[in-house]
Amino acid sequence: MRAWAQQAPKNAKDFLDVMEFQEAARAVLRPAHWGYMASGVDDDLTLNANMSAFKHYQLKPRRLVDVSKSDLGIEIFGAKWDSPIFVCPVGSQMAFHADGELATARAARAKKTMQVLSTASTTSVENVAKALGTPPWYQLYMPLKWEHTEKLVKRVEDAGCPALAWTVDLLAGRNTETATRFRLQDAGECMTCHVNGPGTPIHRPMLEGIDSRYNPPEATWSYVDRLKKITKMKILLKGLDNSEDAKLAVNHGADGIIVSNHGGRAAETLRATIDCLPEVVEAVNGRIPVLVDGGFRRGTDIFKALALGAKAVGLGRPYIWGLSAFGQDGVERVLDILHTELTLTMRQMGAPTVREITRAHVVRAPA
Ligand SMILES: Cc1cc2nc3c(=O)[nH]c(=O)nc-3n(C[C@H](O)[C@H](O)[C@H](O)COP(=O)(O)O)c2cc1C
Repeated sequence: MRAWAQQAPKNAKDFLDVMEFQEAARAVLRPAHWGYMASGVDDDLTLNANMSAFKHYQLKPRRLVDVSKSDLGIEIFGAKWDSPIFVCPVGSQMAFHADGELATARAARAKKTMQVLSTASTTSVENVAKALGTPPWYQLYMPLKWEHTEKLVKRVEDAGCPALAWTVDLLAGRNTETATRFRLQDAGECMTCHVNGPGTPIHRPMLEGIDSRYNPPEATWSYVDRLKKITKMKILLKGLDNSEDAKLAVNHGADGIIVSNHGGRAAETLRATIDCLPEVVEAVNGRIPVLVDGGFRRGTDIFKALALGAKAVGLGRPYIWGLSAFGQDGVERVLDILHTELTLTMRQMGAPTVREITRAHVVRAPA
């Protein structure tokens, strides 16, 4: 364990901001697992752009508004949540903590927060639904064979999931150099994930009975039409970042969009998601909800996205840092910190409820 980790808070409750959890996670994770989580692609320019672009926007407070009562609640597809923050699909969570996706589900349940479960999960959707107390939203990595997509979608629908977010930003492949570099430094093999022994594939319960390869590179917009035909679940597209694709998504019947670049893990030198959000919101023009993720680390970041028109804001790495260091307690503490920061920002801006946050609360910073 590194020197810092010996002095680091021993209790999740003693952490003051979410970035502190990054160090704590680094101290407990083996190199390969740390590298998998921390990785962007190439030189991590998209990953870093996501975080640094929040400074492109400044806040504009309104004074003398009654801010004595706050409410972070939102409603989406007829369901109510206590928070506009959701936990993004992140694969292989047992690589970060033995309780994996179940710890995340228990934390999300405790905080009445929406959870999106990854196709690359190390826990089944049925077990996550039990721990969460309600079926999660489900993230789809589309299998290469259409009949396997049908089988997976049916399983997810049978589990009661209300929404399916198809990730469309990895269909072309990627170059996760950091992950590879750390894996090469890792002499051992983790038996929690590689249950059949060193070098064997990670156990992925959602891919049982189907070919585990996914992301068909030949997929086009016609696949959205096909997906719509085989399920009653709401279909969201995760990984759009521009007005042209946003309009196509609406035209092809998508029920929602998640503006995302996979946390900088797909393509290099993309624009930050917070910079892409306004043009997507404008193109969609209120017809379907627009959600966003990528680089959110502070309550002010989340406020800016809500002011720019996001319906909800997704967290990726921050809750995984909490999970890595403290399991369920760590995820809960990360959510608590961001809820507290967001509530404070909302009060300071004179918008104590999410409904009252408007475009007028944010201005583009001078160049
Ligand atoms: C370790 C890791 C695994 C991920 N796995 C998935 C996944 O299985 N499916 C998916 O759609 N996105 C996946 N993502 C992307 C997240 O859903 C999300 O878009 C991104 O992490 C948000 O950026 P942030 O990490 O800066 O908050 C993953 C991200 C990380 C860090």
